[in-house]
Amino acid sequence: MTKNQLSLSVLTILFAGVCSVDAANKEWKMNIPDPPIASIRKDRFPSPEERLKVYMSNWYVPPCADSPEGHVHYEYYNDDESEWPRLRVQSTDRNRTILDLSSLITPDTTFFLDTGTVFDCLLPEPESKYKHRVEFRKNMNMYCVDAATSVLTTTQHVNTERNSTIPTIVQFGDLKHSHIFGNVTIPHLKKFRSASQSAESLRQVVEAQCYGDDRPVLETIHQLDYMQPIVWKLASRRHFGNLEKVHREDTAWEHKKDMAIWRGQLTGSRDGGFDKDLPAETNCMRLKRCRLVYKHSKSHLIHARLTSTRKRLPDVLNGVPLLAPATTIRRLLEYKGIIMLEGNDVASGLKWALLSQSVVLMPPPKHTSWAMEELLEPWIHYVPLNEDATDVEEKMQWVVDNDDMARRIAERGSLWMEDLVFHPDAAEEDRWIQEEIIRRYRKHFVQGIELTSAVE
Ligand SMILES: *[C@@H]1O[C@H](CO)[C@@H](O)[C@H](O)[C@H]1NC(C)=O
Ligand SMILES: *[C@@H]1O[C@H](CO)[C@@H](O)[C@H](O)[C@H]1NC(C)=O
Ligand SMILES: *[C@@H]1O[C@H](CO)[C@@H](O)[C@H](O)[C@H]1NC(C)=O
Repeated sequence: MTKNQLSLSVLTILFAGVCSVDAANKEWKMNIPDPPIASIRKDRFPSPEERLKVYMSNWYVPPCADSPEGHVHYEYYNDDESEWPRLRVQSTDRNRTILDLSSLITPDTTFFLDTGTVFDCLLPEPESKYKHRVEFRKNMNMYCVDAATSVLTTTQHVNTERNSTIPTIVQFGDLKHSHIFGNVTIPHLKKFRSASQSAESLRQVVEAQCYGDDRPVLETIHQLDYMQPIVWKLASRRHFGNLEKVHREDTAWEHKKDMAIWRGQLTGSRDGGFDKDLPAETNCMRLKRCRLVYKHSKSHLIHARLTSTRKRLPDVLNGVPLLAPATTIRRLLEYKGIIMLEGNDVASGLKWALLSQSVVLMPPPKHTSWAMEELLEPWIHYVPLNEDATDVEEKMQWVVDNDDMARRIAERGSLWMEDLVFHPDAAEEDRWIQEEIIRRYRKHFVQGIELTSAVE
């Protein structure tokens, strides 16, 4: 080997080394899709039929007419202690568990709708007859509004045999399971469900003509082995209520700050491993939301603060302010990036953040609600973060460096919400979908409990 050859091969090795480090650093940046924005709604937004499948997942396919096992059996009975009837329903899982449901309105448990109670729940002051029929009345009100104006009205409209007694079973609140019944394996309406593992997992549970007792369970991101609830637009005041504000108060992209903002409470501590016996710093590092605030206190790209520590953490930790007063949406919209983190269920601010001209940065959503979060595509509708959002600074730097692409992601996100809520066809499609949900939901029920429980 001559001296020249030697130095050439050293150079080659050096060069190759630099390249591969660089390549690894940039690999995700190389694979970012940037398709043109579709100008026609049907080319960028799911059809009503596709949406129906997303919302109904496990319960989209009706039971086979000749199979009593595939149906949910129900029967009302009189509770001796109260004047209100109760309901027994038999689940469709292998256990054929009988659930004993009440029509009392209460969060985080499954119950059936009683019209009088739902309407009373809308009143600030209960009528005496219903005084004890709504628990946590203030919190339940926004759910009751939707129960009254969309669930009951749709059911009424679809129920052509006026004498039908099929119950409308629902759950309000943020809990995945039910306080009383655990994992519920009967069809019921809820604000959210666990996101499907993939488009293929959803397809697998919606393609048959009918099911007997062999109904397959949707594969979810949480790997749950039980049926998911039916998604309905519930608590819409909280989840959809800020949308007009965005139209009114948004800042144009070019005037937004080159930073990402996050504001939120310290929720998610139920799954996050908070332990009151540990030092505050350890707890902060264990909780995704607190860690985001603490780690980026000096960042020029990220501005994150908790709006409440729920008395679990100090307002200032090792000199780092964790807490800031709640901020108006107008102020949040001054930033190019809006960081969204799911708490116990879907992130409630996601709808207005998507609609805005800012770009959403978030880990792939694990829950799906009326906004069909599981269909949102990384780099198309939002900038994906890793599970723990530890790469948020790197991703916000990408936004700053790729202004046009980031702006198009923000635009596709806005269009998703425009198509869902404000498009001229949106209201009619929602109405068709909701009617179809109730029609299909009702096919699962048969009056009278005749089957015996499989486990005695
Ligand atoms: C069915 O019963 C078995 C045995 O009692 C129990 O371990 C299991 O959790 C039950 N499944 C459901 C979905 O309730
Ligand atoms: C409703 O009434 C019709 C006609 O009287 C009857 O044929 C049908 O079985 C009834 N349905 C129920 C669920 O009671
Ligand atoms: C629900 O099912 C999951 C497994 O799919 C299990 O880990 C969890 O403990 C169950 N929850 C309840 C409340 O039964």
